[in-house]
Amino acid sequence: MVLDRRETPPSGGSILGIGGSPRKGGNTDCLLAQILDAARSVGARTEQLRLPDLKFTPCVGCEACRRDGLCTRFSDDMMDLYPKIIEAKGLVLVSPVHNYNVTAWMKAFIDRLYCLYNFNDNRPNGWSSSLAGQGRKAVIAAVCEQEDKKDMGFTLEAMRLPLEALGYEIVGELPVLRIFDAGKVAEVPEVIAEARRLGTLLAEETC
Ligand SMILES: Cc1cc2nc3c(=O)[nH]c(=O)nc-3n(C[C@H](O)[C@H](O)[C@H](O)COP(=O)(O)O)c2cc1C
Repeated sequence: MVLDRRETPPSGGSILGIGGSPRKGGNTDCLLAQILDAARSVGARTEQLRLPDLKFTPCVGCEACRRDGLCTRFSDDMMDLYPKIIEAKGLVLVSPVHNYNVTAWMKAFIDRLYCLYNFNDNRPNGWSSSLAGQGRKAVIAAVCEQEDKKDMGFTLEAMRLPLEALGYEIVGELPVLRIFDAGKVAEVPEVIAEARRLGTLLAEETC
């Protein structure tokens, strides 16, 4: 597939939501659904995806994308996801905390976004993002069992820093503590309210 990333400006009012939990119907799926439902209620077009439902390989560092502009090493489900990421002006990433960090699926997904950078030969500093400067905005959320925010470890940072490097402005972050059982987050009205507030905010910011 050949796709010129620079000729595809993001579409206002379009939000892509990506969940990193292997637990179907769990807390991540619930939070993401609420964020996107609230975004739709104020006019956004949304799509919700679960990374564990997709077949894709982690980045192997072959650097072929420096030459080709997109990942040409693999022909997997990321090939359908790249155009969706490029098209959506808003992005939502939600991950449960697995060992103080995002899940393996979320990490693999983020690493596969490496091909969206423009690299030059000035090492080590020569890079920019093909997604930068286009008004892209994101919301990130993480959910964990423990009650101290330090038990979330690096989870929010592991999403925030790469998204900022790619050119997204993070308009909202939602750390959710003390939730273990699948789907239990739906029973915490103040968390659901905050998820919905962030969905509305993202829709308004990306219209
Ligand atoms: C492999 C694994 C590692 C986990 N590590 C942590 C952790 O480091 N800190 C924490 O508070 N909860 C941890 N948890 C608990 C989950 O974050 C928690 O159950 C969360 O609500 C799961 O969300 P989900 O339903 O979206 O999968 C872990 C769960 C699993 C399965």
